[in-house]
Amino acid sequence: MVKVDLSGTSAFFDPAELDFAAAAAAHRTLADKTGAGSEFTGWLELPQRIRDGELKAILSAAQRIRGRSKALVVIGIGGSYLGARGAIELLRPVPSEDDPKIFFVGNGLSPDALSDTVTRLGDMDFDINVISKSGTTLEPALAFRVFRKMLKEKYGSAAKKHIFATTDAHRGALKSLADAEGWECFVVPDDVGGRYSVLSAVGLLPMAVAGIDIKAVINSAIIAFKELDLRSPENPAWQYAAARQYLYGHGRSIEILGCYEPSFRFMAEWWKQLYGESEGKNGIGIFPASVEFTADLHSMGQYIQDGPRTLMETIVSFESARSSVSVPFEMGDPDGLNYLAGKDYADICRTASDAVKAAHISGGVPNIGISVPKRDEAGFAELVCFFELACAISGYMSGVNPFDQPGVEAYKKNMFKLLGKPGT
Ligand code: PA5
Repeated sequence: MVKVDLSGTSAFFDPAELDFAAAAAAHRTLADKTGAGSEFTGWLELPQRIRDGELKAILSAAQRIRGRSKALVVIGIGGSYLGARGAIELLRPVPSEDDPKIFFVGNGLSPDALSDTVTRLGDMDFDINVISKSGTTLEPALAFRVFRKMLKEKYGSAAKKHIFATTDAHRGALKSLADAEGWECFVVPDDVGGRYSVLSAVGLLPMAVAGIDIKAVINSAIIAFKELDLRSPENPAWQYAAARQYLYGHGRSIEILGCYEPSFRFMAEWWKQLYGESEGKNGIGIFPASVEFTADLHSMGQYIQDGPRTLMETIVSFESARSSVSVPFEMGDPDGLNYLAGKDYADICRTASDAVKAAHISGGVPNIGISVPKRDEAGFAELVCFFELACAISGYMSGVNPFDQPGVEAYKKNMFKLLGKPGT
């Protein structure tokens, strides 16, 4: 199970000050499905439901894609994008020779980024997984047009076998198009919002194509959600939610999520969407930011150590590293580094992270530690279940609906009007 370490907050509050009664009430509201947005809490049962049904179809599609294609173009944005990318970069940062390349498009409107992907794709055999719950989001819909045209030019009438649509079960432009064209479809369940959907086909199909063991992910997620159902202050999700709400109430309006593994970068992007979209509303909410250590200690380190004291810091770590690299000894010690000769990088990194933690605490930044045993399928699933549950609990504790996103409509209205969309 995920461990939360609150030792780095002891200079800022006494654990007795944490409002576990509010965390308990929020957890009850969530589990009983009696709170705001309860119609979007299906993600709690998602791993169980997937295992019972759709997993076989996802694995079969992934096997076909892996067997015939050198690349998968994944088209999606926001909740239909970040989870899969986070998982793939975390677990398969170096693809094996058999793994198709995974290209993510439809997550912006840059013509250069799009044509760069077309160039990198070259004449590779490829499949498309277009992911959009609404089926109407502009960025993925436009990119889908471009890559669908390429696919038709390459494969003619067989192109339809190369398209997999992950969308609403019944509604939307993408669903209608898929039915009309005969594309294989996967479902974004009605009761699961985009940012909570990584353990549905939205995340699982790209992950499986990338060579991630999605059965292991799902089995670990089933166990994780069961363990996280613990109704006591021992629950790490309660601890995290209660600590960040306490700190927010005492002036810490920005949370920086850091990790010493660069492969965690897109998991941090996924986390930012999850927490930002769930909690930032009604004029309140912690601003979620992210840093990559140690790289960002050389850019953001000054601000963290010494800037306005509005920060809290949450550091994700993996208890054991996947690789062992020891520092070579060099005769004459020309660079003065022989004091580290024979030491493993993992030990140096751990020592550095202890030193950074102590420095930041002494600079007035509370530090929350979150750890899982390994950077593997189980560790990924545990982190996802933990962050999703803690986010919902934290959102309910602050009095918001953690499952809606009314604010994202404003820019869309303006944009469609300016672009001249009929009816706007
Ligand atoms: O979390 C959300 O709801 C959003 O980030 C959506 O996932 C994103 O806007 C994409 O929407 P759709 O899947 O409908 O294309």
